[in-house]
Amino acid sequence: MRSIFITGGNGGLGVAMARRFLESHPDDRVWLGVRTNRSEAESVAVDHVGRCGLLELDVTRGSDWQAAARTILDDCGRIDVLVNNAGAHEDHLLATMPEEVWHEVIKTNLDSVFYGCRTVVSQMTRQGHGRIINIASMSALQPAVGQSNYAAAKAGVVMLTRSLAKETAQAGITVNVVLPGYIETGMLAAMDGEARSAALERVPMRRFGRPEEVAAAVVFLASGEAAYITGASLKIDGGVY
Ligand SMILES: NC(=O)c1ccc[n+]([C@@H]2O[C@H](COP(=O)([O-])OP(=O)(O)OC[C@H]3O[C@@H](n4cnc5c(N)ncnc54)[C@H](OP(=O)(O)O)[C@@H]3O)[C@@H](O)[C@H]2O)c1
Repeated sequence: MRSIFITGGNGGLGVAMARRFLESHPDDRVWLGVRTNRSEAESVAVDHVGRCGLLELDVTRGSDWQAAARTILDDCGRIDVLVNNAGAHEDHLLATMPEEVWHEVIKTNLDSVFYGCRTVVSQMTRQGHGRIINIASMSALQPAVGQSNYAAAKAGVVMLTRSLAKETAQAGITVNVVLPGYIETGMLAAMDGEARSAALERVPMRRFGRPEEVAAAVVFLASGEAAYITGASLKIDGGVY
């Protein structure tokens, strides 16, 4: 049995990852971190009774992380995989970006990954096994106008990943980062028609990605077959740049 913890568990990517783990590995137990919304995560739990639990988790709060980890450990006794997936953007030109928006986006996308990794690393070290998969964005490498906060946070996640991978390499823990491009989830649905067409023009494959295509990579990175991959950055973006 593997115990898998996915944050942002009600979002488009979180749900796709949860379903992929549960459908491809009958022994996996999945925990979904939820904050404001939960209906999608609840449907996953209903479809996999006894194998999928919801946890209240604001990823920017260290105390929520501690409570979530306690619940998982009380139930499963181990945490094998952490997917730091929760994230959000709020775009503004830097010159007019409100200070609180800067801090909120950094907190949600970068502080969250620090808290998540710090929460699980000691336990994974005791187990002698762990997989951490951080979800950044192509914005870390190819930022769009108005995303200085989001791009800086996601670039920070890439470097946090590489640094932590070195710290944990001898403890049986791998740490990798996935950089999705434009993927069809609620995050993309917020774009207007003109922005969608402009986005499509940037993608050499001339289509947006499907959440299942990101989920497949995450499940692979969590597997035994990926044991020698650590500190890696995997772009999943139809060939952008
Ligand atoms: N979709 C894309 O095109 C794309 C591209 C590149 C990178 N990404 C990254 O992929 C990840 C997942 O995105 P998605 O497309 O699945 O987006 P989504 O459908 O908007 O889901 C985002 C999830 O993050 C959660 N979240 C946000 N702030 C949180 C906080 N402080 N505490 C706990 N949960 C929080 C949301 O929960 P609530 O219900 O509480 O709001 C939601 O479940 C994000 O890190 C995003 O930056 C997505």
